Amino acid sequence: MSTAKSHAKSGPNEDAITLLSADHTKVKQLFKEFQDLKEEDGSAEDKFELVTQICQELKIHTEIEEEIFYPAVRKAIDDGDLLDEALIEHSAAKELIAQLEEMSPDDELYDARVTVLGEQIEHHVKEEEGEMFPKAKKAKIDGETLGARMTQRKSELMADMESDEEGPNANPRAAKKEVADTKAPASR
Ligand SMILES: [Fe+2]
Ligand SMILES: [Fe+2]
Repeated sequence: MSTAKSHAKSGPNEDAITLLSADHTKVKQLFKEFQDLKEEDGSAEDKFELVTQICQELKIHTEIEEEIFYPAVRKAIDDGDLLDEALIEHSAAKELIAQLEEMSPDDELYDARVTVLGEQIEHHVKEEEGEMFPKAKKAKIDGETLGARMTQRKSELMADMESDEEGPNANPRAAKKEVADTKAPASR
């Protein structure tokens, strides 16, 4: 068995909640970096790279939650509303992500969208960590099995995204990026 090698960790499988919380911490840090970049008038190129990373992290994270974690939690706890609301929050985030992916950092309201996305995610994470995760723990979900499945799925999704980026199909975002790159120095 040589699956999930890029994420393989020696020792026991990572617990589902530990894995998701680590993602939360990472993405929170990335949003903080964006705010720093904004304050120091960072280049369009740096913003583009950072936001591309944020969007990818969030797309993979919401996907593994929706495919694997949420259905297991829904079965284990008696609070369908909590899961429904989390899904709506994901779809609101995905809408902003889709908009950002079509934009260049020089576009109007780009920074505002990133900031609002960060605020929405902060709220969402608070509810997951403050409410959903404790309920899931109390209901004794099988954190190790779910963690292993999510780790595996995460690797697949990351590989898909990488091959999309390298693929022969011209990516409209790549073209936008070039525009952003050439514009960046003039905007300083
Ligand atoms: Fe999450
Ligand atoms: Fe979530």
